[in-house]
Amino acid sequence: MQKIERLAVFSSGGDAPGMNACIRAVVRTGLVNKLRLYGIMRGYQGMIEDEFKPLTSRSVSNIIQRGGTILKAARSKDFMTPEGMQKAYENLKQHQIDAIVAIGGDGTFKGAEAFCTKYPDIRIVGIPGTIDNDLTGTDYTLGFDTAVNNVIEAVDKIRDTAASHDRCFFIEVMGRDSGCIALWAGLAGGAEEILLPEIMTDFDELIQKLEEGKSNNKNSSIIIVGEGEKNGGADEVAHKIKELLPHYDTKVTILGHVQRGGSPTAFDRILAAKFGVWAVESLLAGENRKMIGILKGEKFFTPFSQATKQHEPLDMELLRINTILAT
Ligand code: F6P
Repeated sequence: MQKIERLAVFSSGGDAPGMNACIRAVVRTGLVNKLRLYGIMRGYQGMIEDEFKPLTSRSVSNIIQRGGTILKAARSKDFMTPEGMQKAYENLKQHQIDAIVAIGGDGTFKGAEAFCTKYPDIRIVGIPGTIDNDLTGTDYTLGFDTAVNNVIEAVDKIRDTAASHDRCFFIEVMGRDSGCIALWAGLAGGAEEILLPEIMTDFDELIQKLEEGKSNNKNSSIIIVGEGEKNGGADEVAHKIKELLPHYDTKVTILGHVQRGGSPTAFDRILAAKFGVWAVESLLAGENRKMIGILKGEKFFTPFSQATKQHEPLDMELLRINTILAT
């Protein structure tokens, strides 16, 4: 096994709170192990465009609390072309990079797997960094906890106005085709209903529940809708409900990118620290082509090829609990 002397780190895909804390952990663990550290700007795109910068311990001072990513993030189409990958490889070689820590989601690991297959002399370990919490092989991804907290902060505020005007609010949250944010934020925010991309919305059932709520003196409702909901999200669901129950005062709020910003929670910072330290240590111990994760509190490795293929199933017990509590 070739000795690792120069290690690069990048963040890719959508940014996620905790990425900076994780970059800090990677850099400092690398330096403690006498490595030379490089940051690659804008993920794979910066690798192609030769945006490498040396990182010291001071480069990552005062970033533990900052959202976003100091290395910026991008989704690179160029990297999926043979020419793009070749250019990225040449730049890595020019900077004598032996190994990489890639922080991102399934797109990032798909890219890493394709790259490792073609250029096996560069070793890569991945860190799950996405608010969606949709990767197999880890109970939590970096940024998920902060995103859920961002959502419930907004839901709490919307609840004030919903109650004051006796309105039925449909609040759309991120997660692409995963309902994890919707499920967790729905339960934590006390939603009357949680509509998930994984389950086709049953309008008869939804109406029945809303009407039951009304007859139970519930004058306002919060319905959390995962963005991948199969009828087309909060707008479409609210439209349909308005058609079926015209006397309802319905409102739609699409929370959007506010969910992805802000200072990471303590949970995400601790996850970032663990992932960062474990990623560097595992590369030095010979791991390669794997995503590091945390399952039941323990470090766990999943080959990129598997991490990208399946989503972790949702914890449907949370939905059952919410149904009981939303009465
Ligand atoms: O994957 C993270 C995520 O925020 C998803 O929840 C969302 O569907 C997507 O990224 C939005 O992407 P963009 O920031 O490119 O609009």
